[in-house]
Amino acid sequence: MIYRVLIIIFLLVAYSCDSPPSVNFNEDIAPIVYTKCQSCHKKGGIAPFAFTNYSEVADYAKMIKEVTASRYMPPWSADPYYQSYLYERALSKDEIDLIGYWVEQGFPEGPEHLKKNADDFLPSDTLQRKPDLTICMEESFIIKGNNKDAYQTFVIPVNLEKDRFVQSMEFRPGNISVVHHAQVLVDSSGRAYAIDQKTPEYGFNTFSEMRLRANGILTGYLPGGEGPVKYPDGTGKKVYKNSYVIFNIHYAPVPYETEDLSCLDLYFSKGKKPRAIKGQTVNMRHITNGEFLIKANQTKYFHAQKTIPEDISLIAIWPHMHFRGKKFEAYAETPQGKTIPLVKINNWDFNWQNAYFLKQLIHIPKASNIYMEGTFDNRASNPFNPVLPPVDVRWGSSSLDEMLILGLEYLDYKTGDENQALDEY
Ligand code: HEC
Repeated sequence: MIYRVLIIIFLLVAYSCDSPPSVNFNEDIAPIVYTKCQSCHKKGGIAPFAFTNYSEVADYAKMIKEVTASRYMPPWSADPYYQSYLYERALSKDEIDLIGYWVEQGFPEGPEHLKKNADDFLPSDTLQRKPDLTICMEESFIIKGNNKDAYQTFVIPVNLEKDRFVQSMEFRPGNISVVHHAQVLVDSSGRAYAIDQKTPEYGFNTFSEMRLRANGILTGYLPGGEGPVKYPDGTGKKVYKNSYVIFNIHYAPVPYETEDLSCLDLYFSKGKKPRAIKGQTVNMRHITNGEFLIKANQTKYFHAQKTIPEDISLIAIWPHMHFRGKKFEAYAETPQGKTIPLVKINNWDFNWQNAYFLKQLIHIPKASNIYMEGTFDNRASNPFNPVLPPVDVRWGSSSLDEMLILGLEYLDYKTGDENQALDEY
């Protein structure tokens, strides 16, 4: 007994002696802030203030400690303990602790000779070669300075001599202080173009009741996620020669009138026969607990199940819901009973949705089941509810309707795929 007490006392003393490391900005904090915050917190960036030198960061030190501890910043929806991804913005527990110690210690600057230049931490923003094709909006879109979000869809014809495979692409906002996020789709049916022809302004409102059919998603853009998306060498997404590219852009509220003309750079796959990057979704048809109806003033949970008929190598996943979405989770279960976590989002945020690229191709064996679960909140107390008072909501592509989709991007499986790491660029 006495030994046990002694051991506990010893452990307590040892623990309290293990005081936090001494932390300074130049050595410890600058590398974290310059890599994980600067992409938005820079001059002309989407965040309201810049973090590009000591004094800018020190001005907000106490607030930085709070917003990193609560994981409000950097914005990153996916649960980092569930699955990890390329381009992951979330801070590690160690990084959060380090910031906390630094602020508690009075946020010292540290030795001058260890001072770092913020520019050195910016990602190189090109693929070191010129894009094979650049597709731009055909005219500028005027954003009214009415302090309201605007969601506009633009349809741009692509004129290729032949069908092409695309390995890399980059959406380049024309005006980074207003383009909040964008999704780029391809459509070879011409339907989206026909819709656009019927509206007087350039493009059409994404919320309109008009239904949009697209072949698939090409890429997406979120502030802070600048830089091209690159798929593995020898692979590519097919773009048909006579198709249309659709930009679905969310413009952030601004108090002044301004304009935007965004572009998309495409880099074609090299080699004779690239492996096709394919897409499929888990969607409304796979829901296993009844009709997709979210009654006014209620919350609703759905689950879905889809069996994968062939062996595939998963590259990326796109969770998708609209404004009333709250939680999202997806995982695979192999016929051997192994569970593979795909993505978990504990606080769905429509404005921060994106694709999650796996660090390594994941082999999903034939006959595996993919499970998707989603929770919606259609009550007036949900601050994101776009219709007040709430109404019954069903499935639909207008952002006023709802959706619950898991997009999967994959290759047909080839032996050895599971050993292939994906690089950032
Ligand atoms: C992807 C873009 C992005 C990244 C990366 C990002 N921020 Fe922000 N940050 C924003 C935006 C946009 C706002 C203003 C809107 C808001 O508060 O949500 C903001 C606001 C803040 C605020 C003010 C919060 C408040 O309550 O007013 C702080 C402090 C902050 N960020 C710190 C950080 C830190 C520290 C990091 C890095 C660890 C970081 N941010 C990374 C976009 C970003």
